[in-house]
Amino acid sequence: MDAIRIRGGGPLRGAVRISGAKNAALPILCATLLSDGASRLRNVPALRDIDTTAALLRFLGRDVKVAAPEVEVAAGSSVRPEAPYELVKQMRASVLVLGPLVARFGHAKVSLPGGCAIGARPIDQHLKGLEAMGCKIRLERGYVHVEGPGDRGRLRAGEVYFDIPTVTGTENLMMAAALAKGRTTLVNCAREPEVEELARVLNKMGAEVDGAGTDVIHIRGSERGELAPFDHAIIPDRIETGTYMIAAAVAEGGEVTVQGAEVSDIEPLIVKMRAAGVEIATEGQNILVRRNKPLKAVNVTTAPHPGFPTDMQAQFLVLMCFARGESVISETIFENRFMHVPELQRMGASIALRGNTAVVQGVDKLYGASVMATDLRASASLVIAGLVAEDETEVRRVYHIDRGYERIEEKMRGLGAKIERVKGADA
Ligand code: EPU
Repeated sequence: MDAIRIRGGGPLRGAVRISGAKNAALPILCATLLSDGASRLRNVPALRDIDTTAALLRFLGRDVKVAAPEVEVAAGSSVRPEAPYELVKQMRASVLVLGPLVARFGHAKVSLPGGCAIGARPIDQHLKGLEAMGCKIRLERGYVHVEGPGDRGRLRAGEVYFDIPTVTGTENLMMAAALAKGRTTLVNCAREPEVEELARVLNKMGAEVDGAGTDVIHIRGSERGELAPFDHAIIPDRIETGTYMIAAAVAEGGEVTVQGAEVSDIEPLIVKMRAAGVEIATEGQNILVRRNKPLKAVNVTTAPHPGFPTDMQAQFLVLMCFARGESVISETIFENRFMHVPELQRMGASIALRGNTAVVQGVDKLYGASVMATDLRASASLVIAGLVAEDETEVRRVYHIDRGYERIEEKMRGLGAKIERVKGADA
């Protein structure tokens, strides 16, 4: 396995261009199942999760061509509405094929994802929604079997009340409803920009979706039994944007322009970074991040969008490791999302963990060490810590990073970081 080696040094300077959003591209790739025509996605990031989704779509019988930043998906010669454990365990978002498969073929068999490093992450809300649309659900030998109602399995429009806002749950149900008979209402939906982006694509495909971006979404299913193919360029990745913004601010003197970003999507982070004393100027799709004074400690509580994103918690925590005073970081979305804390403690950070709250006391410096990446965003936080730590930091298990950050070492090097990938270093 590869590792990433970083020699801590001075501040980052220069410009970095943001790639397409992983968490928007994944559901949109799955939405291609709703059509038999050839769809084209543009601005798709070159990431392991995209390759896993392509492999899953091929397994399902689709013809997929990945030539990042473009992906084309067309109907293949056969259809197999089944997502096997081997692929689902590599990437939980594979569950996003469930809604489109049932909608399109009247039945589906998808492996349950199982637990993951950051929390239990059940899919009960996805299943409850499908039941509200007339499906029968059976769990057998680790697989969920879903059968659509009569009329060759065509889903019926329903009213779905989510107990909690769930991003992929909302997306799965939107895709299922896009071919259901009648008008479906989803209540207490996730309001993330990626949900809105999926709605844009479903509307291009001929479904009628309105309300995406609010907590109530209405979807009128297409009468034709399938949707039209589409051509769509994916929105910029707000979490990659935020990750480079934090990397720019972590060392005093940093000055980085993050290019091609969607400023409004990352507003909750901008507000907290400004409160911490980081200078942020925006112009069109560019965000200039400048840090020329000591950081102030600020508190953060993660929340569903438009709250502070859980996917930025680990990176923000690293920033607070260098702030003056004490900051309290509370995680409310996932129950086990502080796996970066013990690694940062090994680098000299002063953090006390109390349940799902981390109390961070700023320190003058961190020290390089060999650390282990445990999930995607935790890995990114360790890379950021390595940028300013004394001596060398080696981040192991970087396959987590490759799931969600396109060419991270190249982009960081472009900003002056001393960072390299060491092939096979993490045996
Ligand atoms: N939940 C349930 N039941 C469900 C679904 C969710 O209890 O049926 C719970 C989860 O366990 C969690 C909360 O609801 O406690 C919110 O989870 P959500 O379903 O919104 O998360 P997700 O859809 O599985 C997406 C992103 C994650 C991101 C979260 C929260 C994708 C592919 N993944 O996951 O991204 O952290 O929303 O914003 O969109 C990442 O990119 O690193 C990542 C983990």
